[in-house]
Amino acid sequence: MDVQMRLYWEAYSEIYSTKDLIRELQNPLRHYENEFVEGAIVDIGCGQTTFLFDYLDTKRKLIGIDNDKVQLKLLKNRLDALPSNTADVQLLNLTLLVDALPSEPYSVVFLANILHFFNLQECGQIIDQLKANLMSGSFVYAWVHSDKYYMNDPSKPGNNDYFKHYFTLADLDSLFESVGFERVYYSETERYFSKKEMLTQERWLDKYMDHLKISNKKERKSLKDENLINNPESDLIAVYKMR
Ligand SMILES: C[S@@+](CC[C@H](N)C(=O)[O-])C[C@H]1O[C@@H](n2cnc3c(N)ncnc32)[C@H](O)[C@@H]1O
Repeated sequence: MDVQMRLYWEAYSEIYSTKDLIRELQNPLRHYENEFVEGAIVDIGCGQTTFLFDYLDTKRKLIGIDNDKVQLKLLKNRLDALPSNTADVQLLNLTLLVDALPSEPYSVVFLANILHFFNLQECGQIIDQLKANLMSGSFVYAWVHSDKYYMNDPSKPGNNDYFKHYFTLADLDSLFESVGFERVYYSETERYFSKKEMLTQERWLDKYMDHLKISNKKERKSLKDENLINNPESDLIAVYKMR
């Protein structure tokens, strides 16, 4: 993880308690819980903000996958600090498309805020890898930045340097073709950051300016004025069920 991201997740872990994360979790799969087939619940690119929190009091095997050790350590600290948590949670430090995924039946897979770090062809390869562990009735949740995302400007060079792809619903449907999957949920969202999220951004910027040894008050203020802008997050969320 580069230093900017490390400082962001550090700021995030200072500002968000685990209780906050559990309360703020919006999980459309809650509607379908009584349809879950046997198998593990897997969150890929779980970070600390994992959907696994929703399943801690089930007897299911829970698997969190992330390629960042610091994020996994922060998540482990959160899980260890929960009172009476006896859940079977495996946290695996794996890199998508580099490492093999654990081979076992997956009941539910969460792909939250991870697919936009890959181009569409790579996303197809990720779904192909997943399919080896999916069965009839397995659910896959995908949360991605949409083509309306404020940073998306295809006319700009380097538009896809950071986020490799901005999605339309047709893009998602092409990854989960209708012969194999049924789309059971879809939503398109546009959301501005809350005060707490903006506070996290500001704490991050403070940490980064400290890291760069920028101490001049005027310079710090002008960097904040330039960077602390509340742009709307435009996202798509879809849930697919394997036929
Ligand atoms: C934006 S965060 C999303 C965290 C959480 N899923 C959420 O929705 O809030 C992306 C996470 O994916 C992880 N990640 C990025 N690239 C990855 C890769 N190639 N393989 C596995 N994890 C990756 C990052 O370390 C980070 O924790």
